[in-house]
Amino acid sequence: MSLYFQRHRRLRTTPAMRNLVRETYLHANDFIYPIYAVEGEDKKQEISSMPGVFRYSLDRLEEEIEEVVNLGIQSVIVFGVPEHKDACGSEAYAENGIVQQATRKVKQWAPQLVTMADTCLCQYTDHGHCGMIHNEDVDNDASLEILVKTAVSQAAAGADVIAPSNMMDGFVAAIRQGLDNAGYQNIPIMSYAVKYASQFYGPFREAAKSTPQFGDRKTYQMDPANRREALREAASDIEEGADMLMVKPALAFMDIIREVKDSFDLPVAAYNVSGEYAMIKAAAQRGWIDEKGITLEMLTGFKRAGADMILTYFAKDAARWLKEID
Ligand code: PBG
Repeated sequence: MSLYFQRHRRLRTTPAMRNLVRETYLHANDFIYPIYAVEGEDKKQEISSMPGVFRYSLDRLEEEIEEVVNLGIQSVIVFGVPEHKDACGSEAYAENGIVQQATRKVKQWAPQLVTMADTCLCQYTDHGHCGMIHNEDVDNDASLEILVKTAVSQAAAGADVIAPSNMMDGFVAAIRQGLDNAGYQNIPIMSYAVKYASQFYGPFREAAKSTPQFGDRKTYQMDPANRREALREAASDIEEGADMLMVKPALAFMDIIREVKDSFDLPVAAYNVSGEYAMIKAAAQRGWIDEKGITLEMLTGFKRAGADMILTYFAKDAARWLKEID
């Protein structure tokens, strides 16, 4: 009498066999690489908590863009780190603001690169919040007008995608209307629809100098404990005209990526944020983990969870590793 059971190992016998049955693949064109642009000249400043990630002045940025393009990466998102900050974040929408200048340059050097603009105020306000402050609180509706101006100025500078990350209610509706009125009907909005108030943003705030000077972001960013609320956030952004949805952070929110993917039919982006990058880099520097193996496993996990694209500081490393494998 023979014992009956399933032999799952039959499909794992050789690399070729495993390749035949593999369900999820990573490609360089899944990635969106974050770029930090600073004012000044001849600057290439490494961010201490993000080894391998630099802030570039415009005269040094071309080398970075060239590398990105040569690695087969097809998209970047540009963050500006301005010198001058004020209460209403006026550098965010200045025609010659740092993001506007960087965007124009990137599009000049690499017109084919999908160049996204992060539409938020926290890098530009002296209080470090993502909107305007009234009575020690972020004033939702007063912030919308500034965000619309910012988005329109980014589109005017050549941004191919507007990616608003500020978490004000109604920001997608307001920005869609503002873009349409200014003649940018064809510029899509990638909404940071589901953005949690996360500790994983720590290194970004060092890089972008955007730490809130009082309080925190919990009255506008989501509580990490909430799942159903994520679906409400995503649903309203779709109604308001979002073209793509983002879930952020990614690693501790893989269930949310899956849920958003299953619930809606828009493309889903996962933002593998600064703290997730820092953790892996730090452990790898100590020799505690295999950086390449762990990173590719994590990125594959985001795709398996439902992400169509991944914003990641690992984009260049991963694109290099994927070339080695091929
Ligand atoms: C702006 C913004 C943040 C990030 C992207 N856009 C920071 C924040 O909300 O505090 C974080 C990105 C990262 O950690 O890599 N609001």
